[in-house]
Amino acid sequence: MSPSEKHAPSPVELLVTKRDGKRHRPGDITRLVESFMSKELADYQMSAWLMAAFHHPLTSAETQELTLAMLHSGTVLEHKGLKLPAVDKHSTGGVGDKISIALAPLVAATGVPVPMISGRGLGHTGGTLDKLEAIPGFSVVQSEPQFCAQVRKLGVAMIGQTERLAPADRRIYALRDVTGTVESIPLIVASILSKKLAEGIDALVLDVKVGRGAFMKTLSDARRLARALETTARGAGKRVTSLITRMDAPLGLTIGNALETREAIEILHGKGPSDVRQLTLRLAREMLLLAGASSTVAAADKQVLRALSDGRALELFAKMVRAQGGDVRVVTDPKRLPRVKSPLVVNATCSGTVADIDAMVLGRASVALGAGRWRAEDKVDPRAGIELAVQIGDRVEKGDPLAWLHASKRVLCDPLVETVRGGFVIGSGKVKRQSLVVGS
Ligand code: URA
Repeated sequence: MSPSEKHAPSPVELLVTKRDGKRHRPGDITRLVESFMSKELADYQMSAWLMAAFHHPLTSAETQELTLAMLHSGTVLEHKGLKLPAVDKHSTGGVGDKISIALAPLVAATGVPVPMISGRGLGHTGGTLDKLEAIPGFSVVQSEPQFCAQVRKLGVAMIGQTERLAPADRRIYALRDVTGTVESIPLIVASILSKKLAEGIDALVLDVKVGRGAFMKTLSDARRLARALETTARGAGKRVTSLITRMDAPLGLTIGNALETREAIEILHGKGPSDVRQLTLRLAREMLLLAGASSTVAAADKQVLRALSDGRALELFAKMVRAQGGDVRVVTDPKRLPRVKSPLVVNATCSGTVADIDAMVLGRASVALGAGRWRAEDKVDPRAGIELAVQIGDRVEKGDPLAWLHASKRVLCDPLVETVRGGFVIGSGKVKRQSLVVGS
């Protein structure tokens, strides 16, 4: 018997190990999570360990063990009878990021299965579930067997985390949220991947956002997060690719749930803003390559563009909406999505070229309009948000609209007019739009 097998450390010994900045022995983190889930380890003890792990970041091996322990705290789905590997995409969150809504059916329309489990918006960033729920009747709640059956039948399903998928993440995240321990790369990695791996995917494309509207403000932090996510996902036997994409300005021309869903539907109609279209196509390419559905970039792009232009992606989106109880008429007539009668315009006070748009300012303003939530229990208004009239590089004349504020009551909009106007920088001369993908 090795010395390490002789004595399993007590919960307090585990906390002391990390408090003192030492490494855990293999197996210790698994025991920690198991004893937390069985309530042998109290919330306050787990909180103490999280703070210790915040100050003494987990090693790659420890992150791997935490991810797997959280993953196996619940059910891990298995998709049987699929012809190609199942692939998902995860974005670390941004403002106006509605990419998943068009991406999932687009990729599935090429034959690559996409079992997608998403989250809700929190803080200034939106969430796919809130956007999908803007479609009248659309349900993001399914049992695991229903979810797997829909993936088998249609190739795509988009739902929320169930009680049984990675329950340790739900409980641990609730503690991190109130103990100031969210912003730790190893803890973020374990949280994201435990949920994503529970979907039963074979491969994962990561969209790691960087910039003032993102979790990661600097390229070096975004790279560190991307590398840590990749290492851990590979260690769990998954194929993985990551893109690092700019999140300084909002993506596209809409922020807010129904507004963003409308824009995503436009993409499926072959329209929509070019930045949203480009990122959707780029991520779709990566997903096809990872699934082995295409062997070259050119072939992947061709397959994706064909599924978009011949209407298969739109048709599949309609099938998914119907299967999940939504009003399928929104697919051909997005005006049926909930909307505000008289949005309030925000005009430019000078002429020039839009040099910058602050995603953080607009993201926060859209939460104040009712589109998002500061606390998990807040309700969102599907109609609320901000519609942009311009993007970076566009010319505006004094008095032209910069944006429209959408809210249930005018009184919510009035105090935000100056704030939103302040989010736009109008300069002179030409401004070049920067490329969205800044690294991989
Ligand atoms: N998103 C998650 O799912 N978990 C984190 O810890 C941070 C962002």
